[in-house]
Amino acid sequence: MVNTPRQFAIFVSFIVAVVATLITSLGTWFIFGAFSFLLVALTFILTGTISYFIVFFLLERLITNKIRVLYRTIHSFKISKGDFPINMDDDVLEKTEKEVFSWVKTKREEIDKLKEQEAFRREFIGNLAHELRTPIFSIQGYILTLLEGGLEDESINVKFLERASKGVDRMTNILEDLDTITKIESERVKINKKNIDMKDLAEEILESFEIKAKEKKIKLKLDSNDLDTVMVFCDRDKIGQVLTNLINNALNYGNEGGYVKVRFFDFEDHYLIEVADNGIGIEENHLPRLFERFYRVDKSRSRHDGGTGLGLAIVKHIIEAHGQMISVRSTPGEGSTFSFTLQKAIRE
Ligand SMILES: Nc1ncnc2c1ncn2[C@@H]1O[C@H](COP(=O)(O)OP(=O)(O)OP(=O)(O)O)[C@@H](O)[C@H]1O
Ligand SMILES: [Mg+2]
Repeated sequence: MVNTPRQFAIFVSFIVAVVATLITSLGTWFIFGAFSFLLVALTFILTGTISYFIVFFLLERLITNKIRVLYRTIHSFKISKGDFPINMDDDVLEKTEKEVFSWVKTKREEIDKLKEQEAFRREFIGNLAHELRTPIFSIQGYILTLLEGGLEDESINVKFLERASKGVDRMTNILEDLDTITKIESERVKINKKNIDMKDLAEEILESFEIKAKEKKIKLKLDSNDLDTVMVFCDRDKIGQVLTNLINNALNYGNEGGYVKVRFFDFEDHYLIEVADNGIGIEENHLPRLFERFYRVDKSRSRHDGGTGLGLAIVKHIIEAHGQMISVRSTPGEGSTFSFTLQKAIRE
């Protein structure tokens, strides 16, 4: 079979040589009535060789020029002849075809990725505008009422100013949360890992929630599984934020008279830390999207509680910046458990 350019040149020149030899032999036979073996052999060798070189040279030029243009397009840089030697013993066309196919594949993947990012960006901006609209409208409402005479009305002026200020607080919270996420995402925040006692940290954070827990009549528990210390290697402030967000959620979405438990489990070179509640729980279909920015299960309910759906997005970013994993399991009506891993303390 003819696959490579060289094989093609040989094939064509062989046919040319055979035809030329036939014509010469028949010609000499008719004209001179004789047959010269030397002439036949010479014709065959000469026409064969000459046509081989001509065909080979033309093919090489044609292929190099055409394929170079193709490569220049797909790799979007200039290729001079020296950078692009063609091996005439290769199946050049098949090689090029493969190269083009792989180029198409990478381009298609790039386009898909860009489309995904674009969709994400659009959704993100939509969500952000939506989240900011609520506090802005309420601030605007209070200010307008104050301007239209409410300022003199002592029964409402301070109250309305306080409410407007709450709206500003809410906006500030959203922006600060977004800032935190963006900073972690773009690695502008350094994760400052040290050996710390997780039991200590958990006690500290649980203490800070005592008043809120009492108000909601929820018990806070620390279950250390008989471990005296739980020494882990992490950024104390960041993991403190993780625990704060998880415990805050457990209280927000917990039931009166229920509990919130922080537990530790020892796994070879890791500790597993769990924050569990016996609150309202989460339907399974929400679980895969729970850690996305602005994602909330019950929009009306958590809006009422002041949530924006950024808490878990921050948690996930922090855990991933530590190179660790977080997961959730939950049964509606029974409660939810968020668990994440942390590397054990390293020997100093
Ligand atoms: N322990 C939990 N029990 C039940 N639902 C939960 C729990 N934790 C989170 N959720 C659900 O997941 C959603 C996302 O939680 P996330 O902490 O990201 O946002 P949020 O609490 O609404 O707002 P914030 O940004 O103030 O934390 C919540 O709105 C809630 O519906
Ligand atoms: Mg939250």
